[in-house]
Amino acid sequence: MDHTAPDRHWVRWHRQYDVEGSSLRRRLALVQRRVGQALDAQPAGEIRVLSMCAGQGRDLLGVLPGHPRRGDVRATLVELDADLAAEATHVARAAGLDGVRVVVGDAADAGLYNYVAPVHLALVCGVFGNLSDTDVQRTVEQLPRLCQPGATVIWTRHRRSPDLTPRVRGWFADAGFDEVGFDVEDGYLIGVGTHRLAGPALPYQPDAHLFDFVGDGGDGHR
Ligand SMILES: C[S@@+](CC[C@H](N)C(=O)[O-])C[C@H]1O[C@@H](n2cnc3c(N)ncnc32)[C@H](O)[C@@H]1O
Repeated sequence: MDHTAPDRHWVRWHRQYDVEGSSLRRRLALVQRRVGQALDAQPAGEIRVLSMCAGQGRDLLGVLPGHPRRGDVRATLVELDADLAAEATHVARAAGLDGVRVVVGDAADAGLYNYVAPVHLALVCGVFGNLSDTDVQRTVEQLPRLCQPGATVIWTRHRRSPDLTPRVRGWFADAGFDEVGFDVEDGYLIGVGTHRLAGPALPYQPDAHLFDFVGDGGDGHR
């Protein structure tokens, strides 16, 4: 990755991915495994993917280049920081992932997903730790408006006390999702949830505002 971008908070945050053994790197491995499984499980045809607050897009872009379904993927990654978005674009272009589009904007704006919604796979990683509890719940409730029936949602949230993840998992159940798995690692506060929309999808509402991103990432992974 090119780290010549300005030394802003979220640019610095991403450098933990390059630190061997860091909690962020461990979390990425869990997320990428789930992304690979979700892609493996897709029926033939186009696979539509969205990523909210995508950063450098390492979760999806770390898996797609070597995945047999890479040519079927049409994805929108939404990231507010133009330099991080440019890195994601660069990685996608260098790997020849022509179906991947990186949008610089507010990931809370549901209209930015119009190229892909409703999706087969939604990535909501590094988001829920930066929202109010109310907005986490609201976002989970809105996900069936962005998803196809049977879609997979992969999400992360730290488990620092008071651990919100039991409630998040409950909100997914209330919104019609079955839990595929909830991954943790001993000694780390990482939480990676994978849910599948078992209930009905809801109509896409491009004018919806999903959340207010208020956090700074904190130290929640350690
Ligand atoms: C914790 S990082 C997660 C990045 C990536 N999803 C990952 O897991 O590696 C949060 C990202 O959200 C971006 N961000 C913050 N507010 C945003 C917003 N309103 N819309 C889109 N991205 C936003 C930050 O620039 C940062 O890259």
